[in-house]
Amino acid sequence: MNKLIVGNWKMNPKSLVQALQIYKQISKIKKTNKVQVVACVPNVYLASILKIKKPSVLIGIQDAHYTPTGAETGQNSVAMVASYKPAYSLAGHSEVRRRGDTDTDVNQKVLELLRHKIKPIICVGETDRDNDGQYLQHIKNQIENALLGVAKKDIKNIAIAYEPIWAIGTGAKREATHVECLEVAIYVRKILTDLFGVKNANEVAILYGGSVNTRDAMDFMQNGGVDGLLIGRDSLIPKDFIKIVNDTVISLKIKK
Ligand code: PGA
Repeated sequence: MNKLIVGNWKMNPKSLVQALQIYKQISKIKKTNKVQVVACVPNVYLASILKIKKPSVLIGIQDAHYTPTGAETGQNSVAMVASYKPAYSLAGHSEVRRRGDTDTDVNQKVLELLRHKIKPIICVGETDRDNDGQYLQHIKNQIENALLGVAKKDIKNIAIAYEPIWAIGTGAKREATHVECLEVAIYVRKILTDLFGVKNANEVAILYGGSVNTRDAMDFMQNGGVDGLLIGRDSLIPKDFIKIVNDTVISLKIKK
């Protein structure tokens, strides 16, 4: 499977000029078939970034509402954003779930995104770890609920990002280890296999996200059992984001 490196710009940067600068810099990455690179940008920058879009970095969105139109003040719908033809969208990021998105909302978004040929990157992850494995059940529920009604033929267009909330963002308690990542990656593959069969399950990219940086990215990629990364803060630092992509390309060449 090809690797998938996704930047989540979150509510950054604060001006369009800066957004265009970041995109221009990261899109200097050499395009390769083996590593797909995506920048999930704020919707408000979509149109301008798409004008300078390069094949090396695909454009994704971070969130959109599943109802096409309606009384949802301040929201953009998947149908609206679809006219810009983003390749990917996050769905169920913990920061959006915190603002009220339920598993049902995430499921509706996934179905609506697929209907518009936008590939969902479904984010799952526990708030805290416990010793009884309840966090595993929580991840299972999130995945099963998000994928309700998804047809087998669409499964290859989905990615699952494991993002333990305790390891994300500026409030992270600590960084996850590759062992913790590997455990969940194997478990996610098993959940997908039980739902859709081994062949389909093996087509789903499983990503890790949570304070990924230039120092630990390759450890997760090589020892964490994942097919890619979802990078927040460091995706806004072009030289760091480019380094992670280039290191991934190099590691694939060495592995051959
Ligand atoms: P972080 O964010 O890399 O800044 O922890 C990851 C994410 O929330 O997607």
